[in-house]
Amino acid sequence: MSIIKNVAVLGASGNFGTPITSDLLAANFNVTIITRTTSTTAHPPSIPTLRIDYDLSSLIIAFANQDAVVCVVGPGGISLQKTFVDAAVAAGVKRFLIDDFGWGLTEKGFQEFGAIHAQRREGWDYAAQKAREVGEFTWTGLSTGNPIDWAMKKFPMMGFDVKTHRAIIYDSGNERFTGTTLSGIGQAVVGTLLNPSATANRFLAVQSICTNQNELLFAFEKATGEKWEVERHTSGELIKSGKEDFKTGAGMWRLKLAVATLYYVGQSRGMVAATREESDAELLGVREESADEIVAKLLQQ
Ligand SMILES: NC(=O)c1ccc[n+]([C@@H]2O[C@H](COP(=O)([O-])OP(=O)(O)OC[C@H]3O[C@@H](n4cnc5c(N)ncnc54)[C@H](OP(=O)(O)O)[C@@H]3O)[C@@H](O)[C@H]2O)c1
Repeated sequence: MSIIKNVAVLGASGNFGTPITSDLLAANFNVTIITRTTSTTAHPPSIPTLRIDYDLSSLIIAFANQDAVVCVVGPGGISLQKTFVDAAVAAGVKRFLIDDFGWGLTEKGFQEFGAIHAQRREGWDYAAQKAREVGEFTWTGLSTGNPIDWAMKKFPMMGFDVKTHRAIIYDSGNERFTGTTLSGIGQAVVGTLLNPSATANRFLAVQSICTNQNELLFAFEKATGEKWEVERHTSGELIKSGKEDFKTGAGMWRLKLAVATLYYVGQSRGMVAATREESDAELLGVREESADEIVAKLLQQ
C-alpha cells in the first residue's frame, strides 16, 4: 500500500483529537482539521482548517487529496460515520480510521450500552462493507480501552481523587484492566498510518499499561509520600446503582457502568488483550508505561 502523508482529522480539538493531532504533526504528517460550520471549538491557528457543513458534497470536497481520514468526533457525531465513509470513498481516501477509541467489537459490555454500541457499529460495519466493495478503500479501528490518565483525572469515581488524595477501592482492588494514555492513543494513530498494510481492515488492541487499583494506589502513595484515605466499595453496588440509573434515565449510569466494566470481579471486562504480546501495542509503537509514570503525569498536571 502506498505511503500515507496527507491526513484529515474530524474532531481534532476534542479530548482524544487534541493529542492525536499533535502527534500526527510531530510525526510530520500534513494535517488538515475539518470542523463544523456550527462549531464553537477553538482550533490551533497554525493548522490548516476547513470549516464546512457535514453534508456529503462538502465532505467530498474537503477530503480531496487526503490519503487518510481520522474520525474522532465525540458521541454526538457518531451517527455521521456512514456519511463520512461515503465521502471518503468518493474522494479516493485510502484509509479511514473509524470512531472506536473504546472497546471495539467486544461482547463483554453491559447490555445497557447496547443502543450506543449498535449506533457505533453501524458506521464500522459500513466502512468494512465499503472496503470489500472498493479495493482502494481501507479502514482501521483502534480499541484503546480505558483512557487511563485522562479518565483517572476526570472521573474520581474511577477510584482516585488526585486533588484530595482520597481513593475508592472496589472489592479487593486486584481486578486487572488495560489502559491507554493520551500519548498512547496519539501514537496508536501515528503507528497505524506508518504501517498501512499491517493495520488495514481490522481492529487493533491498544494498551499502555495493564494494572489494577492496588498498584495505582501504591504508586499514588509513593509519589505523594502520604497514606491516602481509602473508602471500600464493591463493583456489585456500582452495577446495581448504574442499572437503576439506566432505568430511571438518570445521567450517571454510563459512568457507573463504565467504571464497573473495569473492576467487575473475575470478568476481565476491562482488558483489550490478555497480554501486551497479544495486543498490537508493539506494532503501533505504543510504549509500555508504568503506574509510577502515569501517576507522576497526573500529579504534575
Ligand atoms: N474509551 C473511553 O472510555 C472513551 C472516553 C471518551 C471518549 N471515547 C470515544 O473517543 C471518541 C472521541 O471522543 P472525545 O471525548 O475525544 O470527543 P469530544 O471531545 O466530546 O468531541 C470531539 C469533537 O467532536 C466534534 N463533535 C462534537 N459533537 C459533534 C456532532 N454532533 N457532530 C459532529 N461533530 C461533533 C467536535 O469537533 P468540532 O467542534 O471541531 O466540529 C468536538 O470537538 C468517541 O468515539 C468517544 O466515544 C472513549
